[in-house]
Amino acid sequence: MVNVYEAAGPLYDALSGERVVYRTGRESGVALLKPSTGDTVLDVGCGTGLNFALLVDAVGPSGTVVGLDRSPKMLEMARRRVEANGWTCVCLVKADATTFDPNEIAKELPAPSSGLVDAVFSSYAMSVFDDWHPAWDRMRTLLKPGGRAGIVDMQLPVGRARVFSPLARLAASVGGADLHAHPWAVIEREGTDVRSASLRGGHIQVVAATIA
Ligand SMILES: C[S@@+](CC[C@H](N)C(=O)[O-])C[C@H]1O[C@@H](n2cnc3c(N)ncnc32)[C@H](O)[C@@H]1O
Repeated sequence: MVNVYEAAGPLYDALSGERVVYRTGRESGVALLKPSTGDTVLDVGCGTGLNFALLVDAVGPSGTVVGLDRSPKMLEMARRRVEANGWTCVCLVKADATTFDPNEIAKELPAPSSGLVDAVFSSYAMSVFDDWHPAWDRMRTLLKPGGRAGIVDMQLPVGRARVFSPLARLAASVGGADLHAHPWAVIEREGTDVRSASLRGGHIQVVAATIA
């Protein structure tokens, strides 16, 4: 089967509805995640790196952003973005989020991190995974105790915004997202200091929390 992200990598930014619909979700997600200066943040299913500017800004030059994705084409676009912006604190890892060995990723982390990250983040990606649960297990394994986790993802709009459901279904089917996956629920269940936002008529759900 053709992988939509391999096929559309170079066009993703233009076709993803970023400015009109989805940017607000990643902005809110990073704001609620609240990474600190010097933090190491793992961005799971990072795609072309649309979160990087926000994350790099938050962690500063002493921090690290690790972008993980399984698609070489998406990572190539991410690499170009990193180079164009001169972000030396971003590293990219090609891996399947649902099957990777956390020990292998731990080796890619910068020395002071002792194999664990301060925060894990994922936007519009976990609903695309065949099953997000094994990805979450791996994110947890790599997250230091008391670290922060943030998930931004999609569902069907609610209330009066339900009139936009056909558009949401179209966007999800093009991107291969399961609008019923609701991956943010795991953070609501397992986290403390839970912060959340519901945007674009409930279509975009943003949850961040501290994970013990
Ligand atoms: C809709 S894009 C979101 C990209 C980015 N997070 C954003 O906010 O724009 C979904 C991404 O998940 C990646 N992906 C899908 N399944 C994956 C998996 N099992 N492991 C790692 N990445 C995966 C795709 O390659 C794609 O880059």
